[in-house]
Amino acid sequence: MCGIVGVLGAHEAAPLLVEALKRLEYRGYDSAGIATINNERLGRRRAVGKLVELSDLLVHDPLAGRAGIGHTRWATHGAATTLNAHPHKAGPVAVVHNGIIENYRELRAEITKAGLSWDSETDTETVALLCQIYLDQGMAPVEAAKATVARLEGAFALAFLFDGEPDLIVAARRGSPLAIGHGEGEMYLGSDAIALGPLTDRVTYLEDGDLAVLHRAGVEIFDTAGGRVQRPVKSVQIDQTRIDKGGYRHFMAKEIAEQPAVIRATLDAYLNTAGDTIALPKPLDLTGINRITMVACGTAYYACMTAKYWIETLARIPVEVDIASEFRYREPPLPAGTLALFVSQSGETADTLAALRYCQSQNLPIVSLTNVAESSIARNSHVALPIHAGPEIGVASTKAFTCQLTALAVIALHAALERGQITPAELARHLKQLAALPGLINQALSLTDRIAKISRQLAEAQDILFLGRGAMFPMALEAALKMKEISYIHAEGYASGELKHGPIALVERTVPVVVFAPYDGLFGKTVSNMEEVIARHGQVVLLSDSAGAEEAGDNAAHVLTLPEADAIFAPILYAVPAQLLAYHTAVARGTDVDQPRNLAKSVTVE
Ligand code: G6P
Repeated sequence: MCGIVGVLGAHEAAPLLVEALKRLEYRGYDSAGIATINNERLGRRRAVGKLVELSDLLVHDPLAGRAGIGHTRWATHGAATTLNAHPHKAGPVAVVHNGIIENYRELRAEITKAGLSWDSETDTETVALLCQIYLDQGMAPVEAAKATVARLEGAFALAFLFDGEPDLIVAARRGSPLAIGHGEGEMYLGSDAIALGPLTDRVTYLEDGDLAVLHRAGVEIFDTAGGRVQRPVKSVQIDQTRIDKGGYRHFMAKEIAEQPAVIRATLDAYLNTAGDTIALPKPLDLTGINRITMVACGTAYYACMTAKYWIETLARIPVEVDIASEFRYREPPLPAGTLALFVSQSGETADTLAALRYCQSQNLPIVSLTNVAESSIARNSHVALPIHAGPEIGVASTKAFTCQLTALAVIALHAALERGQITPAELARHLKQLAALPGLINQALSLTDRIAKISRQLAEAQDILFLGRGAMFPMALEAALKMKEISYIHAEGYASGELKHGPIALVERTVPVVVFAPYDGLFGKTVSNMEEVIARHGQVVLLSDSAGAEEAGDNAAHVLTLPEADAIFAPILYAVPAQLLAYHTAVARGTDVDQPRNLAKSVTVE
């Protein structure tokens, strides 16, 4: 959470910093700020709210200078106020920070003793003040920054800018990601390579514990032990067209609509050209394992829950699924023969990364599925598989979810084949069903207008229930998460069979109940639960196929008829109307769809 950027340029830094921050706003948007050096002196502008507030401020009160750092904030310590906005400045140094400084209270005692005081409630200002103490002691800027970083505990990415040093930025990372961009006589830094997209395509990713000293002529990198190290310069292709809204009103709408294409891209990357056998991007041997532990957060966790049904049913491997923040502190016993599988869109979620580190300490084989090939989770895995969703900007995950599901479906089939649970002919049949999904999703997208109409009614509700059975149960959970994230309506997902164990008490005329019920082996059971809701005047929105709609659609307030899909992989199709319901409900309520309140896309603090 929080995005940081830095520019040592040949032109005015402020517009470049603002442009780069715009591309990091998905990490937080409580406030934004920049600091530059002009005539050897630090200047700073900060504004509460989204980046546009800072842009407005800069129109009225510009900030000159060709060296600068910038920040977009997701508040952790201290409310979203101007005083708490970054950069934080202490005497001759300005600092931007992503992460949490865990020992900031202890450090504050030392700072008070040195006679300094702070203006904000943040942990970050402690970093600037500590650095000021070292500068006051006569240390040179780079040494002072190094000494400061050595004192910090917690997870962070930091950038330091100093009075009188228009050709210097010091950056450091521990836990939070940081990329250095190489230009022609210019250098940049950013929380990710996307931020640097318009500036350069040559990027060095810092390793955990690295400290970088940037000058316009180049960068020197030091590892945790303080030794000078070389990190590779990679060529990063960032497709600019995929980072704008492409004519859609919101990134989320664009990302929902992209799903047929990106699922196709995932399948292309995981199957042979004929599409009848599996060719994973990296070799993955699942023959010797006897258990899989899957760990993730948020939407990725629901992808794991869905995959549990697939892997257990198809490959007959027992699967445990855990929320990373729970897993990491439980120290679960992990018997030999366990494979650890991590799913994360960003590849940087702090809890998921910590869970991965625990599994590393237990010497488990580690496989990950991420959307960012150079992310910390990918780089710390034995086998890192990409999901090929392309950059996802909307805070609520959509296309990453269905690409995660698609990759997991192929992995389940791969395990099933390797372990002799299915024949090559059965595999080819399953793959054909998967290959049909992009076309079916296109058909589902044509329901958008109907869904928008139903959503206008959902927008009036205070509570919405989502029900599903089997692999549609995680879909109900994901649909409820999506709804509450962006519409701010209270929503709960339940296994249909649990309805009578509590949630039915909530059902009344004003409570919409969205039921996921394709016409499969569980249809009859789910529909009985739906009837129980209708008998209590609940307003049912039934999502099914034509057979299901014909058999059970009469009593529902609304029926959304989806194309018929393979019973096993139908969740990938049903995810799309679930996303559209949440999207249009949010639009009807006028919320900030792409940047919902209090949320951030990349949760790099625990
Ligand atoms: C945040 C995002 C969610 C995402 C979750 C896990 O909560 O808003 O969309 O599912 O983090 O993120 P990850 O990057 O690990 O998939």
